[in-house]
Amino acid sequence: MTNAQQDSSSDSKAWSGRFSEPVSDLVKRYTASVGFDQRMAPQDIRGSLAHARMLAQQAIISTEDLAAIERGMAQIQGEIERGEFHWNLDDEDVHLNIEKRLTALIGDAGKRLHTGRSRNDQVATDIRLWLRDAIDHILELIADFQQALLTLAEHHAATPLPGFTHLQVAQPVTFGHHLLAYFEMTRRDAERFADCRKRLNRLPLGAAALAGTTFPIDRAAVARELGFAEVCENSLDAVSDRDFAIEFCAAAALLMTHLSRLSEELILWMSPRVGFIDLADRFCTGSSIMPQKKNPDVPELVRGKTGRVNGSLVGLLTLMKGQPLAYNKDNQEDKEPLFDTADTVIDTLRIYADMLGSREENGQRVFNVRVKPEAMQAALRQGYATATDLADYLVKRGLPFRDAHEAVARAVRAAEQKGVDLPELSLQELRAFSALIDADVFEVLTVAGSLAARDHLGGTAPAQVRAAIARARQKLQPN
Ligand code: ARG
Repeated sequence: MTNAQQDSSSDSKAWSGRFSEPVSDLVKRYTASVGFDQRMAPQDIRGSLAHARMLAQQAIISTEDLAAIERGMAQIQGEIERGEFHWNLDDEDVHLNIEKRLTALIGDAGKRLHTGRSRNDQVATDIRLWLRDAIDHILELIADFQQALLTLAEHHAATPLPGFTHLQVAQPVTFGHHLLAYFEMTRRDAERFADCRKRLNRLPLGAAALAGTTFPIDRAAVARELGFAEVCENSLDAVSDRDFAIEFCAAAALLMTHLSRLSEELILWMSPRVGFIDLADRFCTGSSIMPQKKNPDVPELVRGKTGRVNGSLVGLLTLMKGQPLAYNKDNQEDKEPLFDTADTVIDTLRIYADMLGSREENGQRVFNVRVKPEAMQAALRQGYATATDLADYLVKRGLPFRDAHEAVARAVRAAEQKGVDLPELSLQELRAFSALIDADVFEVLTVAGSLAARDHLGGTAPAQVRAAIARARQKLQPN
């Protein structure tokens, strides 16, 4: 061990003077959080340094003490980064572990750090700092995913895909248009994360245990140093609520839900029965028994992991609902679901950006997902996808929509009996359902005609899809 062995006897605990017997090993393990909260060490050190600087500024501790604290913390940070720090279960959590080591390194100055502070406002500050960093990272990753999505959508701005309702062929859309639906979903997700960040960006430090402190602290200075936009106005609220963590998990659950829906589509499209796409091999696995299989494991796991993220959201809501003010140890249970949620979202976004991504090869764009337009076309031909276009054609010639709907329904039935698609019926056959039908009907019965006709903002006409991609790119520009 490179650092001094820390005193691990129970009577050295920060709160030990009041107690006559040590906790059992089981209770120690049960109540400790250091196993998982040590990942907040960088935030804990940042928060402590800001607190110490404020204490010195306010002449609550001496400038010599501050210098010692800064020196000690720099060493501790190095030890942690190099993996040399000895995390001790006896010291319960990340806060006490670091404080103990600081005191071992610098003596009494280390013991003065906790003046005017409690672990309650300390941990509330650490989580907010940690989550703020996580959100910033997630926002970047959403943008990366969206870039990949837009590149793929642009390539397929005019590729016809059967749009489904009730999982049955409904009307033609373009594959690019379909992908842009996920751009919109994730755009709202990004807005939700950014919004959550605004509300969590308030400083709890200064609330101390629950009621504030008797020392002449300067909370605004600490907030400024740590980049918080405001301070928490009420000390009881500052130490006790974890609504920001719940909001984060809610935003995460929605993002995962969107990616889970996309996953379900990829799985469906990749099924040999459908065969619209093929995912790159590195996102799939084979079967140990069936040699022919290539299973879409990654999208299936995204769909599966959405369950654990939803579970974390419900877990945190349940954690909070029965707690009286102010801090209760229940709150220690906030971290694992929160960390797990952030980790899951981060990994999912990184994998997704790659799965739908592309690269330049010999001056050509190569996509990691292989799109098969022939299969999409074939499905369109089997689904009477332009039936609505025929109805609209009749309406434009004066027939009330309900009557047009009925005439086309009869035409579809006749085509079905003949085993052909609508444009394969002859003009004479079509005219049997309405005398309003002329030779120009075949323009609207083609997939290309159907797509081009939906030419308004939000519609699937290829020109509109390209315009939507251009607008999306504008929105993605960093301000
Ligand atoms: N490890 C604790 C947590 O995560 C830190 C706060 C402890 N405060 C207390 N009064 N026991 O919530």
